[in-house]
Amino acid sequence: MKHNNLTAEIASLKSRRDAVILAHNYQRREIQEIADHLGDSLELAIIASRCDQKMIVFCGVRFMAESAKILNPSKTVLLPEPEAGCPLADCATVDQVLRYRQEYPRALFVAYINTSAAVKAHCDICVTSANAVRIISRFPDREIVYLPDKNLAAYAESILNRPLIKWPGQCYVHDHLLSLEKMSRLKEKHPGAMVMTHPEAPMDILNISDLVAGTSGMLKAVSLGKNREYIIGTEIGLVDRMQRENPDKIFHPVAEAVCSQMKLTTLQSVADALREGKTEIHVPESDAVPAKRALDRMLEMS
Ligand code: 13P
Ligand code: SF4
Repeated sequence: MKHNNLTAEIASLKSRRDAVILAHNYQRREIQEIADHLGDSLELAIIASRCDQKMIVFCGVRFMAESAKILNPSKTVLLPEPEAGCPLADCATVDQVLRYRQEYPRALFVAYINTSAAVKAHCDICVTSANAVRIISRFPDREIVYLPDKNLAAYAESILNRPLIKWPGQCYVHDHLLSLEKMSRLKEKHPGAMVMTHPEAPMDILNISDLVAGTSGMLKAVSLGKNREYIIGTEIGLVDRMQRENPDKIFHPVAEAVCSQMKLTTLQSVADALREGKTEIHVPESDAVPAKRALDRMLEMS
């Protein structure tokens, strides 16, 4: 079916179902265009926790839809593509957390929101790229286990000037598809450009960036920025949004860094999800209750 027909079908199904469409900044352009709310993982979690509609269609990856369900359990939450997971979130399992808990019995367990509901349930507090450093800084005297992104942990260590117990996980998009060499070449070619990078990238890349921020932090800096050119170190969907919203500015992505899980969701899958009520997210109460405590604690400190 053509884009226009699908978009019209989605609009009519959405009002019939009393649904709201939330989309992450890395979604395909056509999904970003039909979203009621577009944002980073923190903004979308907050919107999900407060929305009045009966149904939330989450265009993103599984941990985001799970967080929406945990924060607003009376809503029906749909993930249009059930295979849309986050390989970084898969780097931490409950068994591993329990082993770390035995090894570090006094530590505060800080879970990146990019974790499964079951892992969140065994941690003390959640964070996102937008608030990780600030929230960790509120626990100056605690030993901290940060999971599962070793790059974001290293970045927090460098800002807070204290060691964290790091987890051996990483995001393939930021850790493998971006490179110091590519970024250095772009910097040489565009010396007036402001360089922005997501904290999931390795330290050598962060060290030569002007700004390290989550996806919406970068967007805000671009819209307020005086520079005409920007070098962007993150997934390509965000660069697309930046270009669309700032047509007078010039963007140079460090690489065609595509998160294939984020790109699984299409207009067809959103229309099918709304029509057939699939795939509904369920989180067992034994995970949902403690995971909500960790997420609520984050929201209170955000
Ligand atoms: P943000 O919270 O910065 O949007 O990041 C989510 C994510 O998955 C980054 O890879
Ligand atoms: Fe996960 Fe990386 Fe994709 Fe973000 S970009 S959803 S961290 S795999």
